[in-house]
Amino acid sequence: MKIKTLAGKFFPDSLLISLGSNNNGRRFGFEGELNVKQDIVSKYGFDGELLDLFVENRGPAVHKWHHYIPIYDRYFSKFRGKKVRFLEIGVSDGGSLQMWRKYFGEDAVIFGVDIDPRCGNVNGISGQVRIGSQDDPKFLEAVVEEMGGVDAILDDGSHRMNHIRSSLEILFPKLADGGIYMIEDLHTAYWRRFGGGYRSKANFFNYVSDLVEDMHHWYHMHKIKHPAISDSCSSIHIHDSIVILEKAKNYKPTHSVIGVQG
Ligand SMILES: C[S@@+](CC[C@H](N)C(=O)[O-])C[C@H]1O[C@@H](n2cnc3c(N)ncnc32)[C@H](O)[C@@H]1O
Repeated sequence: MKIKTLAGKFFPDSLLISLGSNNNGRRFGFEGELNVKQDIVSKYGFDGELLDLFVENRGPAVHKWHHYIPIYDRYFSKFRGKKVRFLEIGVSDGGSLQMWRKYFGEDAVIFGVDIDPRCGNVNGISGQVRIGSQDDPKFLEAVVEEMGGVDAILDDGSHRMNHIRSSLEILFPKLADGGIYMIEDLHTAYWRRFGGGYRSKANFFNYVSDLVEDMHHWYHMHKIKHPAISDSCSSIHIHDSIVILEKAKNYKPTHSVIGVQG
């Protein structure tokens, strides 16, 4: 009997889920009656080209949660057909780099980074691949320099809490104004195998909560906790398992009364 099956026999589901057991993936595997495209269209009302690029992929594997597809399009579509400098953390088989190349177009500068040297095999196919760790400041800085700056970042790397935070703190200051920083698979924030846990201090959503407080520092006067991010983070979006930070100059808020007061 496999270890996973044995674990399922002796430990309650709640424990296996909180640990981040590999069985979690299976719990959410798509078993609907519709095909993948119909499922995404019917649930999320999204029928854009990115959906076709995903479902019609016959190249290296791309593994995505269905609800991510419209979210990607919502935040990344402004860069399509432009000379966007796009960096993906986590290359694996190179399937997503291929999808992004088709989505953003030939003018895009697409780089992927991965700790696994085997990912070097897909270097130069849909984008440039550099080998190193997402928590290594010198490595990431050198990659961004080679890219000539960065406009959009997608963190689909280790999904470990400490790595997500390190990459964000290294890369967000390097992001261009108007840039997008997206982190996916944040269900791992609730799984101990990834350094997270429900209500645990290291859960990345606690960090996001700090950013929300920083954004509103004008109104409570406590110290900004993460100035490297908060000084230029203009909005924070939370979706199921995805966080998006937009970068723009922040101004002290101000208000006016215009018109005749009663
Ligand atoms: C989920 S896969 C990426 C999948 C790819 N983005 C796709 O959609 O096809 C995660 C990748 O992160 C890489 N990874 C794990 N730890 C890392 C680290 N510390 N730095 C960079 N990459 C890492 C793994 O080697 C793996 O290839």
